[in-house]
Amino acid sequence: MILVTGGAGYIGSHTCVELLNAGFDVTVFDNFCNSSPEALIRVEQITRKKLTLITGDCRDRGAMIKALKESQASAVIHFAGLKAVGESVENPTIYYDNNVVGTLRLIEAMQECQLKTLVFSSSATVYGDPVKLPLTEDHPLAPTNPYGRSKKMIEEMLCDLYQSDHSFKIAILRYFNPVGAHDSGLIGEDPRGIPNNLMPFVAQVAVGRQESLSVWGSDYPTPDGTGVRDYIHVVDLALGHLKALEALKIASEKRNSCLTINLGTGQGYSVLDVVRAYEKASKKNIPYRIAPRRPGDIASCYADPKRAHDVLGWQAKLGLDEMCANSWHWQSNNPTGYQQN
Ligand code: NAD
Ligand code: UFG
Repeated sequence: MILVTGGAGYIGSHTCVELLNAGFDVTVFDNFCNSSPEALIRVEQITRKKLTLITGDCRDRGAMIKALKESQASAVIHFAGLKAVGESVENPTIYYDNNVVGTLRLIEAMQECQLKTLVFSSSATVYGDPVKLPLTEDHPLAPTNPYGRSKKMIEEMLCDLYQSDHSFKIAILRYFNPVGAHDSGLIGEDPRGIPNNLMPFVAQVAVGRQESLSVWGSDYPTPDGTGVRDYIHVVDLALGHLKALEALKIASEKRNSCLTINLGTGQGYSVLDVVRAYEKASKKNIPYRIAPRRPGDIASCYADPKRAHDVLGWQAKLGLDEMCANSWHWQSNNPTGYQQN
């Protein structure tokens, strides 16, 4: 049994599908602060399997202990957290509380229950502005906002925990830019309000919910002047978590079993590359205008995915065309996300 915190969210729901398909039993622990229970109904529909749901908050240590005991989980995948960079600048305390305190309470509960296998969602945002590309895991960490700093603090907390007790098995996964959706079109990214991120915004332009895209900056030192990122299909990302669980299962106390691993494709695409690929996938015109740079944005960011390949035996298989096609399938079938109206 795997306990999945934040399992109703975007990446969590896709990971639940892959876990169930691979034969794992799954318990989701979520407070639905940024998701809908409908996502879990869809997960069951896709897999034709049942999962167990526990509604609760990770910051509630008692509830976490109860969930770990009731589920009899053998490992935890910890997705629960807040992720909006701008919101973290405006309201840092809720980010430190939800992300750092939430993870602290979770690991206290794991200690109490003698459960010692954890996969944690970190982010490429911990690197900050790259000094050298592609980004390797030993690149210096210099996050530029409270969200990124909350992820760095958690990484440090988990490494300290491992140093104090080598029977812990921990995988810290640094995601690059997750996009796309399950190819059923039943689950996908469902941001609340106006999307901050590129692909969900483009999807809403294509479906007519937004008029046009603002391209934030065309004077970056990149091939076409727009920002370059390492977009990774959410299903590839989900499969990376199953590989991490496998790697931790065979990790021994002799080998370092606190792994820090990039999950990216190694391939960078510009904003305009994404617009063109989305137009092709959706057969819609995506109007855009060039706007000033977004404060805090960097020019380019992409992974060196070698460690993931060597240590996990994982590599991304799906390309930009599939990311856009699956995103469009989800968006056009569910123009208002999980909320039907
Ligand atoms: P999401 O918001 O869709 O999912 C997060 C889930 O956690 C939601 O279901 C939410 O209700 C739940 N949650 C939040 N706080 C909780 C709490 N205190 N207790 C219980 N449940 C709680 O986000 P996502 O895109 O699926 O991201 C999952 C994880 O991956 C997050 O930790 C995020 O920081 C990290 N990450 C995401 C991205 C990205 O671009 N999507 C990139 C890098 C890292
Ligand atoms: N962009 C636009 N217009 C938009 C939205 C984005 O031009 O409306 C551009 C950005 O300037 C950037 C690129 O599209 O060049 C990608 O932007 P996103 O907001 O989609 O992604 P970021 O790389 O800025 O950040 C995301 C998450 C972070 C995470 C980071 C690395 O939001 O939380 O990826 O994983 F840390």
